[in-house]
Amino acid sequence: MPQIRSVHPDITAISTFHSIPAVGVLTINSFVLDAEQQMIVDTGTTNDRAKMCSAIDSVVDRDRLRWLWITHTDADHVGSVHALLDAYPDLRAVTTFTGWVKMSTHSPIDPTRVRLVNPGESLDLGDRTIRTVMPPLFDAPETTGFFDPASRALFSSDCFGAILPEGVEDLDDLSAAELLTAQTTWTSIDTPWVTKIDRSLLAAELDSIRAMEPAMILSGHLPATEGIVEQQLAGVLAAPDTAPFIGIDNAALQAWIGS
Ligand SMILES: [Fe+2]
Ligand SMILES: [Fe+2]
Repeated sequence: MPQIRSVHPDITAISTFHSIPAVGVLTINSFVLDAEQQMIVDTGTTNDRAKMCSAIDSVVDRDRLRWLWITHTDADHVGSVHALLDAYPDLRAVTTFTGWVKMSTHSPIDPTRVRLVNPGESLDLGDRTIRTVMPPLFDAPETTGFFDPASRALFSSDCFGAILPEGVEDLDDLSAAELLTAQTTWTSIDTPWVTKIDRSLLAAELDSIRAMEPAMILSGHLPATEGIVEQQLAGVLAAPDTAPFIGIDNAALQAWIGS
């Protein structure tokens, strides 16, 4: 079963952990934001659909559940979108125009079940209004995170993630140097072009995140935790100096198959 963890009185993380051969462990998070109008954030992989839906159902209040925020349409974020829309008739998928169009190429969402929230816009959840945030780095053009002013949590989609060493599911088990390596490894996989960007522009983007004074940055790919915002910013700032990730070559694959 997915790990279910409260990271704030208003926020529950629902996490699965995926071993990537010769690389490490990728955390894949969904979240439930317990606003007056509840919201699910991302939905995990297709392979994990049944257990993700069960875990999410154990957390949500269907009388108050209204929104399903899709940070972007990569397969590790949209695996349960349709199952959840089917399970909760009042649920509406929140995405950008680009995200909605991309979903239409493989798993269309009924437009009556869509709430478009494009970059620069906000969404009223009854007791708070969340505002969109485009993360400093992203791997899909529709990527849209958001800032919740009540919890001061920044939901950052893929950005600020990490690939953890095998057997590690708690960031407290990592030294600062190990965490930095885990962060830069993930960033070099997810956005290998980061080595080509202007460092000063990236630093300015990170300063704009810092100016929001987030209490926590909740990535789709890092065990959810408070209190490491500066380490998360430093990890992304260091990413351009990491070699782009390539992975094992075909000879290594054939050796692995034959072993
Ligand atoms: Fe992605
Ligand atoms: Fe992702």
